[in-house]
Amino acid sequence: MTPFTPLRQNGFEGQAPGVKSEYEVVAWDIDDVDVRDFENLRKKIQEVWPDVIYNAVAYNAVDSCEEDDEEYAKAKILNTELPGELAKIAKNLEAVLAHYSTDYVFDGKRPTYRSGQRAPHCCGSGCDGCQYMGKEETIPYWQYSEEDQPNPLSRYGWTKYKGEQAVEEQGEKYYIIRLSKLFGGLSKNALGKKSFFEVMGDLGKKNKEVKAVDNELSKFTYAPDLALESKNIVEENEPFGIYHIVNEGAVTWYEGLKTLYKILGLDTKIIPVGPEEFPRPAKRAEVSVLQNRKRKPLRNYEEALQEWAKIIKN
Ligand SMILES: NC(=O)c1ccc[n+]([C@@H]2O[C@H](COP(=O)([O-])OP(=O)(O)OC[C@H]3O[C@@H](n4cnc5c(N)ncnc54)[C@H](OP(=O)(O)O)[C@@H]3O)[C@@H](O)[C@H]2O)c1
Repeated sequence: MTPFTPLRQNGFEGQAPGVKSEYEVVAWDIDDVDVRDFENLRKKIQEVWPDVIYNAVAYNAVDSCEEDDEEYAKAKILNTELPGELAKIAKNLEAVLAHYSTDYVFDGKRPTYRSGQRAPHCCGSGCDGCQYMGKEETIPYWQYSEEDQPNPLSRYGWTKYKGEQAVEEQGEKYYIIRLSKLFGGLSKNALGKKSFFEVMGDLGKKNKEVKAVDNELSKFTYAPDLALESKNIVEENEPFGIYHIVNEGAVTWYEGLKTLYKILGLDTKIIPVGPEEFPRPAKRAEVSVLQNRKRKPLRNYEEALQEWAKIIKN
């Protein structure tokens, strides 16, 4: 969890690199505060009294939580109870809460609106560029807008969706920021979670051929772009609510990997396979493309991936 605050009190952990000097950033990991201890968490946040709280804590072992009830219980605490608790804390301090969520809240079927007030597809306003305009057959795939109704396929997805609901019910000034297929810097230690590109980049260097699932069409999200946009949303006083922040360019894992190897100059053969080749306990949506209807689109993931590739070389 990463609260940041304009300099209103002195003596905290100091300046984060690359952050404008009017901000004082207080960034905590599990060694600083175990967020499952809600009472201590409340006390620690109150001591800081931040203007904004960013919650990037999550339980992300999607498959373990699907098949193991103890793991599922852990997921519920971090993904559902914690966001609700943070929303309450933020409300008491009159702070803004920015909470991260996921495309896994969607089921991959044709989207339907959350609000009962609106027609399920075309709202009839003739909005420029609306995906629901015209004949359905002309639409290559569905994109999920911020308004669409979640219906998760997995236990993990449900814990995240319920976390969103807890923020909406218990919070006041909040942003729920959904993202998908996150990638960023290299993992710093053996226990660190590696992104798809990091794992497959390593595999591609060691093998003549690799297999990649040609499914799960969605958009990649480059962590530095997400971080900057998360800051912009707050600074620009955007209306509170749900945001989809992803890099443009919807691709399957296989298509994303082709782009990676081209950028890295690897001639490793990539064999496209179906999801049945790598059976996993938790169901994934075939399509979970997030549509960003509230902000200027982020750059295409290919450009972000080129930047990432340059950074990891050094
Ligand atoms: N990764 C993706 O592809 C993806 C896709 C869609 C949405 N998201 C969402 O993006 C957000 C960030 O995901 P991520 O992939 O960056 O997750 P991550 O790498 O697993 O990071 C989660 C963080 O939570 C911390 N944490 C876990 N338990 C804690 C505890 N009890 N007390 C304090 N800190 C604790 C972890 O600390 P340690 O490092 O010390 O364990 C870690 O820094 C999540 O909301 C996730 O649902 C991610």
